[in-house]
Amino acid sequence: MKVKIQSKEKMNAEIAQLFINTVKENPNCILGLATGSSPLGVYNNIINAYKAGEVSFKDVKTFNLDEYVGLEGTHEQSYRYFMNHNLFDHIDINKENTHVPSGTGDYEAKAQEYDALIEQAGGIDLQILGIGSDGHIAFNEPGTPFNSLTHVAELAESTIQDNSRFFNSIDEVPTKAVTMGLASIMKAKKIVLIATGLNKADAIKGLLLGFITEQLPCSVLRNHPDVTIYVDRDAYSKVGI
Ligand code: F6R
Repeated sequence: MKVKIQSKEKMNAEIAQLFINTVKENPNCILGLATGSSPLGVYNNIINAYKAGEVSFKDVKTFNLDEYVGLEGTHEQSYRYFMNHNLFDHIDINKENTHVPSGTGDYEAKAQEYDALIEQAGGIDLQILGIGSDGHIAFNEPGTPFNSLTHVAELAESTIQDNSRFFNSIDEVPTKAVTMGLASIMKAKKIVLIATGLNKADAIKGLLLGFITEQLPCSVLRNHPDVTIYVDRDAYSKVGI
């Protein structure tokens, strides 16, 4: 696992360039995408590169990590809406090639098909991840088995609290999500994880220095051959203490 301690600006530029290079090398590549605050700067840089004519996404396929249960894609807090609004609407990707797990209808059955869909597409070439303050990746909360595939998960209290900043009140935050599992994520060929801010410092300390344990879901990444962790000084601040 590589660790890069950088300013937000530098990591956003570097990770965006990694995505752009991946697409340029293989215009039919499969990208694994995340929502939340962490990847926003990367997505902005990707949009700017597209607008500057540097890259085209017309043959790219994407798979997102997760979606809240109960929110339609038109709901402003749904992850489908987030992706359209923050990336897909601004680049030349074919929306039919963009996959976000379904949080409504027969979402349980669709969750069971999601891993097969990824495999049929050829598997994820490059996956971007954020990290929860409790060490979750996607919505795999502490205690999630390392061999989990895409499934319906209960959100931890701390995650509901963290994510309430995007809703009018904490009561509106969904309590369940459809999420790629830890085994699904580990199948990606290359993984980059972004962590910024003091509230990620405990999770990063555990990830870099702690045991590999299902109690810290992100620690599974230590078993992956190609992971780079991008941290700012705040997120790295408890390593070495
Ligand atoms: C989002 C996701 C989550 C977030 C994590 C960090 O698709 O899978 O695991 O990456 O909750 O969220 P932010 O980036 O908002 O701090």
